[in-house]
Order: sequence, then structure tokens, then C-alpha cells
Amino acid sequence: MKLFVTGGAGFIGSNFILYWIKNHPEDHIINFDKLTYAGNLENLKDIEDSSSYTFIRGDIRDPKTVEQSLKGVDTVVHFAAESHVDRSIMEPAAFVETNVSGTQVLLDAALKEGVGRFHHISTDEVFGSLTLEDTSKFTEMTAYNPRSPYAASKAGSDHLVRAYYTTYGLPITITNCSNNFGPYQFPEKFIPLAITNLLEGKKVPVYGDGLYVRDWLYVEDHCRAIDLVLQKGKSGETYCVGGMGGDVNNLSVVKKILDILGEDESMIEFVKDRPGHDRRYAVDWSKTREELDWEPEHDFDEWLSKTVAWYQDHKDWWKDVKSGAYQDYYNKQYGNG
Ligand code: NAD
Ligand code: DAU
Repeated sequence: MKLFVTGGAGFIGSNFILYWIKNHPEDHIINFDKLTYAGNLENLKDIEDSSSYTFIRGDIRDPKTVEQSLKGVDTVVHFAAESHVDRSIMEPAAFVETNVSGTQVLLDAALKEGVGRFHHISTDEVFGSLTLEDTSKFTEMTAYNPRSPYAASKAGSDHLVRAYYTTYGLPITITNCSNNFGPYQFPEKFIPLAITNLLEGKKVPVYGDGLYVRDWLYVEDHCRAIDLVLQKGKSGETYCVGGMGGDVNNLSVVKKILDILGEDESMIEFVKDRPGHDRRYAVDWSKTREELDWEPEHDFDEWLSKTVAWYQDHKDWWKDVKSGAYQDYYNKQYGNG
């Protein structure tokens, strides 16, 4: 099988490529990535010379390059996106251009080239926010209610993907997944930001009261869910993917990381809240379990410790990432202090 992976140099995309080459060595992967600030080919160093792998630097908004690159492809796995909520609040236009227009360009090309499956990677953020009091979870039937420019742009892309299935018969599947963590995650996201700040002797910025809840999933579990959707998922269907049994708030996550690193709570700094901050995410993944026999295999506490160890062992990787353009963004978001 020939797979066309967009955004394969980013966090989840690169973990997916490493996972796929290990588990499906007979397949060929084309990694199509623009290499924005979030794309890093270092993540794929171990497989860059593999005969199962080709890299194309390209922009999903560019129809000509996308069409040429898609020739002979069986399956598209579409990760490429602007992915950080805080950046979407600062500069929403790029989110609409990449996440909505870019997805539409890809869908057109996939239709024209007759690909067998277009799998779209989406997020639980399209469903909006749950309250702390309520015990319900997001399901595939939950109405869309995106509340940040990022979430709205992902919702737009999901609608387009379904519209291409209904209108043109393009074979599609979608996964709406919760917050991932693990190796190669860009340190603007909460868990790697907390770890790398502490490793640099800096405090961890916690938004608002810190009682916001995310449904954390180790990235390899997400990759395995996508694999099962590609093998057994039904065209036109959506599958929710999530990780936690119970709620864990941001403050508890930071305290766990402080414990792992032997630091105390004086390293927590409460900062101004994110505008429109979603209070709670929780995903009901029973359809994915029942239809695809998937469930998370990585325990949060154990794999959080392993993730901390990974960042301790890969200082060169994140120190390079944290320099330069990222530093300008950091100063704009949190100030120079
Ligand atoms: P990321 O920001 O780490 O990586 C995004 C990748 O897309 C980068 O390699 C970047 O260079 C590439 N890219 C961006 N614009 C592009 C363009 N115009 N053309 C080609 N490539 C482009 O993102 P991530 O955290 O790995 O997320 C991947 C996907 O998974 C996204 O679609 C995101 O919405 C979704 N998702 C993420 C999470 C999470 O917790 N990180 C959870 C659920 C869903
Ligand atoms: O739910 C899936 C989504 O998870 C993905 O679709 C997004 O691509 C991904 O970025 C992530 O979005 P979040 O906004 O939940 O992730 P982030 O890591 O930015 O924040 C996690 C929580 O931590 C959130 O409640 C905000 C809080 N936070 C974040 C940062 C960066 C802080 O308290 N301080 C911070 O400095």
C-alpha cells in the first residue's frame, strides 16, 4: 500500500510514520509537509534513508504540487494543520487557510486521483466544552460547538470531509481525538512546555485557576487507533478516540511532573487565562472499542514519567526547537520576564 501522510514532520505525524514503518514494513509512505515552525525532520532521522519512505516538501494549499504528489496513492492520512489554540487566538487567518482551504485542496486532489481512502485527523475540540459538574462525555453524536478559531477551523475541515463523502462519494473516515502527549511534541503545548521549562529552571505557566480538564492519550495509542480505522473502519464514519478513565486537571498534571522531577510547587506560576478557555474535555470512545477492538494501552502516570525521561534524554532536540522563531512567539504569549 502507498500512504500519503500530510504533516508527517509534526508531533503526531512523525510518531505515526515511525509506528507505521515498524508495523507495516511492506508499505511505502510519502511524507508531505511544508515544514512550518512545527515541522521537524529530526523526528524522522532514524528512517530517513529507508526505501519505504519519501519526503516531499510541499504546502497542502498548493493544488498543483498536491496533485502531482498524490499520483498512485492508495490512502491519504491527513495530519497537516496549524494546531496550537493560543496561536489561533493571536493569528486566526493562518488556521482558516491551512486547516479549511488546505483540506479542501487535498480533498479535490484525492477525488481526482481516485484514492481509496481519505482519513482525516480531527480533534475533540470541535465539540466545545463540558462543565466540571457534568459527568457526560463527547461522542460521535455530540453536536459541533467549536469555541476557538483553531477548533472552528478543524470543525470546518470535518464538515468538508463529510461533504466530499456525501456529495462526490469520496471514501473517507474521521477520528476525533483528545489531547496527545509523548515524544517530539513541540514545547508550546502544555506537557512539553512544563517539562522543558522545569529542566531549564523556569516556572510552569498555569492558565487561570488551573482546574481545566483534558483527556490525555499517549501518542502511540492514537497511532494504533488510526491504523485500526484504516484496516477496519467503515467509509463515511467518525470514530472518537480518548484516553483517561477519570478527570485529571491541569494543576494535577503539573504536580505529577513536579514530583517526577523532584521539584516543589513554588515552580508553578498562575498566569492570565486563555480567552474562551474550554473547561473540560472527556471522550467516550466506546464505538471505537466495540467496532475496532481498540482501547488505550498506555497508563497516564507511567507514560508521563517516560515522556519526562524522553525530554531529559533529548535536550538537543528541544533546545534547538525552543530557540529562534519560537522564542519570539513565547515572548509575545508570556512576556519577556
Ligand atoms: P503539529 O503542529 O505538531 O504538526 C503539524 C504539521 O503540519 C507540521 O509538521 C507542519 O509543518 C505541517 N503543516 C502545517 N501547515 C502545513 C501546510 N500548509 N502544508 C503542509 N504541511 C503543513 O501538530 P500535531 O499536534 O502533530 O497535530 C497533528 C494533527 O492532529 C492536527 O490536524 C491536529 O489538529 C490533530 N490533533 C492533535 C491533537 C494533539 O493533542 N496534538 C489531538 C487531536 C487532534
Ligand atoms: O483536545 C485536542 C487538542 O489538544 C488538539 O486538537 C490541539 O491541537 C492541541 O493543541 C490540544 O489543545 P489544548 O488547548 O487542550 O492543548 P494545550 O497543550 O495548549 O493546553 C492544554 C491545557 O493546558 C489547556 O487547558 C490550557 C492549559 N495551558 C496551556 C499552556 C500552553 C496552561 O495552563 N498553560 C500553558 O502555558
